[in-house]
Amino acid sequence: MPTPLDRRRFLTRSAASAAALFAAREGLGQSTAAAAPGAAPPAPAPPTSPAAGIVRLGQNENPWGPSEAARRAATEAVSSGNRYVWGVAELEKKLAAREGLAPEQVILGPGSHALLCMAAAAWGAAGAEVVTADPTYPGLGLYAEALGGKVVRVPHDPAFRTDLAAMEARVGPATRLVYVCNPANPTGTVVDPAALRSFCERVSAKAVVVVDEAYRDYPDAARFASMLPLVKRGLNVVVTYTFSKLHGLAGLRVGTAAAPPTLAAALRKVRMGGAPLAVSNVAVAAASASLDDAAFLESCRRRTVAGREALAAFLRAEGLPTPPSETNFVFVPMASGAPELARALETRGIRVSARDPNHGLRVTVGTEEDMVRFRAAFREARAAIRPA
Ligand SMILES: Cc1ncc(COP(=O)(O)O)c(C=O)c1O
Repeated sequence: MPTPLDRRRFLTRSAASAAALFAAREGLGQSTAAAAPGAAPPAPAPPTSPAAGIVRLGQNENPWGPSEAARRAATEAVSSGNRYVWGVAELEKKLAAREGLAPEQVILGPGSHALLCMAAAAWGAAGAEVVTADPTYPGLGLYAEALGGKVVRVPHDPAFRTDLAAMEARVGPATRLVYVCNPANPTGTVVDPAALRSFCERVSAKAVVVVDEAYRDYPDAARFASMLPLVKRGLNVVVTYTFSKLHGLAGLRVGTAAAPPTLAAALRKVRMGGAPLAVSNVAVAAASASLDDAAFLESCRRRTVAGREALAAFLRAEGLPTPPSETNFVFVPMASGAPELARALETRGIRVSARDPNHGLRVTVGTEEDMVRFRAAFREARAAIRPA
């Protein structure tokens, strides 16, 4: 009989190996050097942050963040760093009020990745089957596998959209968890709002549906709908969101999950770090201030959308049409050669993601200066690796 201690050791080991695998696949722990325009100069890079000068277009960060208000709030919060965390419950309450949810329906985590792992621990561990798209954001699926769950991966449709019908067809008696990333990473596409709504209505009668809305701030309102109203209706639906994208707080680690009360309670049970301590006071302060800075958020959104359309037009002109993106990145479909191209770009100071090597490259929208460097390096890199 496994004791609670055995189980805890297993979870810790599994978590460590899933984290290592994820970090390797995402290229995490590498250099950092985003230029932040605007009045305030970016803080100097910490000593462990190497490679100033690398243009980071591989992790879908906001190159203009954090906002002035968030920086100020974070800096003030540092002074109280000797005290244990406060403010988590208040921020959960503030977020819940904005969405028309009860406070206990919103859970804060150290990044939405952690919340996706919590969903895997709650419903995707040994004995359970998890249905996801392929390729997709890998965190939930990898963590479920680390905990002994079986992941069924369903290819996207020919237009690079999540294939909801094919995913639904794979939901069987052992399925406990279904993961839909919308807008999708890495393809950048969205699914039809009505189709996703009815998919969630049907599938949530059989399994918990997690809808990952990390990029929900970017899509055109006519083509995208959040699934938060289904949470309000009490369906078996969890919606995750992050402060790492539009809010520009990726390094501070704040994400949220919204869920009906019973699912929220199940998620809280597997939250590590002690319920109110999972997110640091610095991150909580920054996230709360950022939420109130609508002008900053709107300006980042506009610049991102303009940069994204310019990037797609550049790639089209280079003979590489891309699926319509509703995010802060563009996906370049390539059945082969993506890792070579990524390496050739890296040697020219540009980092992109080739996390899904048989599918293509993913390029984040950077600052205007970043994109000038990207375009020059991209032309050079392609010329360098083109067979003579
Ligand atoms: C679709 C998606 N979900 C979740 C995450 C994790 O974000 P974080 O843990 O920074 O909140 C990412 C990060 O890139 C993502 O692309």
